[in-house]
Amino acid sequence: MRINIPVTPELEAYIDEVGYREHPVLSACRAEAQTRGAMSVMQIAPEQGALLQMLVELTGARRVLELGTFTGYSALAMALALGDDGQIVTIDNDGDILQVALAYWAEAGVTQKIDARRGDALDALDVLQRDGAQFDLVFIDADKPNYPAYLERAINLVRIGGLIVIDDTLIHGRVVTGPLAGDPSYVQPAVDAMREVNRRLRDDDRLTIAMLPSHDGMTLARRRR
Ligand SMILES: C[S@@+](CC[C@H](N)C(=O)[O-])C[C@H]1O[C@@H](n2cnc3c(N)ncnc32)[C@H](O)[C@@H]1O
Repeated sequence: MRINIPVTPELEAYIDEVGYREHPVLSACRAEAQTRGAMSVMQIAPEQGALLQMLVELTGARRVLELGTFTGYSALAMALALGDDGQIVTIDNDGDILQVALAYWAEAGVTQKIDARRGDALDALDVLQRDGAQFDLVFIDADKPNYPAYLERAINLVRIGGLIVIDDTLIHGRVVTGPLAGDPSYVQPAVDAMREVNRRLRDDDRLTIAMLPSHDGMTLARRRR
C-alpha cells in the first residue's frame, strides 16, 4: 500500500512555511511566473527546486545540462547550489523568455555559471554530442513529444555515475487514463512520448531509476555503466 495524501491549499501553505529555503531572487522569479497565467505551471515548484539543489550537492555536479529554461527558475536554483567552478548549459527555443531568465540570473549574481543557448533542444544536443561534452547532471523539462529523443541523447551525454532528472513523467495522470474529453490535441503525443520514456527507463539496465510520484511525476535515473 502507498500513502497518498491530498495536497490541500492548507498543506501547500505549510510546505511553503517549512519545506524549503528559497533565495529571494528565486522567490521573485516565481512571483513573476504567477503573472503569466496558464504558463506559470511550466515552472517547477519551489520544493522541486530545493530537490534539484540537493541533487547537485549530492552528485558533486560541476557540469549541468538543462533542456527547457522558461523564466530561469530551475537553472537559477541549480546555479545557486553549484560551486564557483560549476556551469550549467540550458537550452530554450524561446528567445524572449531567455531574456527574462537572464535578468534574474544577473540579479542573483550567477550569470557567469550559466551558458544559455537559444535554439531547438535536439539540435543543441546533437552539437553537444558532436563536441564530446559530458555532464554530471541532466534535467529534462522541455517539450514532451521529444522526450524519448532527449532521453537517448541525455544517456550519451551524462557521465557514468551521473544523474538524469526527468520532469512530468506522469503527465497529470494521463499516462494511465490517456487524454480526457476536452484535452487539447497536444496531450496525446505527450502521453505517447511519456509512456515510451517510462518503458525505456524501466528496461534500460544501464540506469538505476526511481520515479517520484509527487507533483507531475519526476523520475531520477542514474547512469551506472
Ligand atoms: C516546462 S518549461 C521549463 C521550465 C523550467 N525548467 C523551470 O522550471 O523554470 C519548458 C520550456 O521548454 C521550451 N521548449 C519547448 N520546446 C522546445 C524545443 N523544441 N527546444 C528547446 N526548448 C523548447 C519552452 O519554450 C519552455 O520555456
